[in-house]
Amino acid sequence: MMDLWYKNAIVYCLDVETFMDGNGDGVGDFAGLTHRLDHIAALGATCVWLLPFYESPNRDNGYDVSNYYAVHPKLGTLGDFVEFTHLAHDRGLRIIADLPVNHTSIDHPWFQQARRDPKSRYRDWYYWTEDRPANHDEGMVFPGVQKTTWTRDEAAGAYYFHRFYPHEADLKTENPEVREEIQRIMGFWLQLGVSGFRIDAAPFLIEEVGPDGPGPKHYEYLEEFRNFLSWRRGDAVMLAEANVTPDEACAFFGDGDRMHLMFNFPVNQRLFLALATGKAGPIGAALSALPGTDVRSQWANFLRNHDELDLGRLPDEEERLVYERFAPDPAMRLYDRGIRRRLAPMLEGDPSRLKLANSLLLTLPGTPVIWAGDEIGMGDDLSLTERDSVRTPMQWSNGKNGGFSAAPADKVVRPVIDSGPFGFERVNVAAQQRDPDSLLNWLERACRARRDCPELGWGDWRLLDTGDPAVLAHEACWRGNRMVVVHNLSDRPREVTIADLAGPDDHVMEVFCDGRRGDDPDPSRPLRLEAHGFRWLRTAGTRH
Ligand code: NOJ
Repeated sequence: MMDLWYKNAIVYCLDVETFMDGNGDGVGDFAGLTHRLDHIAALGATCVWLLPFYESPNRDNGYDVSNYYAVHPKLGTLGDFVEFTHLAHDRGLRIIADLPVNHTSIDHPWFQQARRDPKSRYRDWYYWTEDRPANHDEGMVFPGVQKTTWTRDEAAGAYYFHRFYPHEADLKTENPEVREEIQRIMGFWLQLGVSGFRIDAAPFLIEEVGPDGPGPKHYEYLEEFRNFLSWRRGDAVMLAEANVTPDEACAFFGDGDRMHLMFNFPVNQRLFLALATGKAGPIGAALSALPGTDVRSQWANFLRNHDELDLGRLPDEEERLVYERFAPDPAMRLYDRGIRRRLAPMLEGDPSRLKLANSLLLTLPGTPVIWAGDEIGMGDDLSLTERDSVRTPMQWSNGKNGGFSAAPADKVVRPVIDSGPFGFERVNVAAQQRDPDSLLNWLERACRARRDCPELGWGDWRLLDTGDPAVLAHEACWRGNRMVVVHNLSDRPREVTIADLAGPDDHVMEVFCDGRRGDDPDPSRPLRLEAHGFRWLRTAGTRH
């Protein structure tokens, strides 16, 4: 069972295009990324999730693919890709590739043939209807920039379905040929060294579409993909992007035979509610509402990523509180879809709250996923459109273009943040490497501690009563070991008595905390926490 590597992994998510430019053309590439692998390994990550890097007209940051069997020429060649996976493996890093197969770009040759020729074998790879469906203005994922889900294509003389932008036509997964092709794509990249896939838009991928609206969801497709994956490569995993209710999540996990991992959207939204209100309750409630899962299933926790912070599953009043606290200016919001800011500016660059948020990320039950740039507390650029605000180039140094690229600034793929408190002169990797008190060095220590605590990824967990609404405590037990992790969400120091902290004769050892390691706590006395403080404790013996 220790083979389930993803249970105790630390995932680092990056976009090749904005990570490091190796050839000086202004666009990040595999050569540059390969050169920077040591940064990722040194942080303590064990797995890299790559945002889409395939050929694409790039109208949705690469999620609009026009050739699944090629690396985008600006990012390098297949040769560069294999070199990259090889050198990543050398450092003990696995690679997960984003797989956006709910839709293709309308530039994809499959769609081009489908629209031109009703007899093409690709016609039935997409959803078509001659008359405009009555529900054409329902079910848009991107309201604000998307007016319809059915767009008329003149060449085809018919409407095609697109859950997302009109330039992303949905593939018809009910067609077994389409599912076979998806498996062929997986097989291709597995052969080139990846350890699995992030399944983009998973709920829509498996949903039938008809002119009268969405049809049933075919969760069994997920088993089909899983079987294929397991045959080809026993340790390969699928990580589902599915912002669904905890109930529906069960169907995505199946009996441990569908998705290995799912992003923990329920906990993500309530974690920000907790940070906004200084109350631990929302996190506890979200954790308690998660379904029990098979040992093979795992939640992937995250703070921020390349998309907006989606608050859509919070009740209106709570959603409003988070907006007020973290996105007071409408420019910080993405229509009514969420917040288009990075973590550090939302937390006003406050080191103690940044550490608190990251400590929660690393210790809540599941596998943590870190968004590149957040390890140094990068900022956002609200002058960019939509979600590009959080997709600015990595800030490596205080050199030209923040060390990202040697190209003239106007050739750089997206402007590097060069002013204000989060500008590259103040916030960059090189400076933080030199500073023992930097966020980067702190997070490296935190990741090392996390890797030393497999109980957190593997263990059975339960919430512990702290008697204080600001303080969250949970235990994680695994193979006779037990950890108790305590977080103070409030901006005041706290003293709490945790009934089940340990038995009177048990030794409690502090593994990690917000500041310098203090004395091991005496379990017979209240536990002290600084404002926004936290303590990771290991206690002798399991309690249950
Ligand atoms: C989810 C991705 O995270 C997002 O960036 C993308 O726009 C949509 N899926 C469509 O592929």
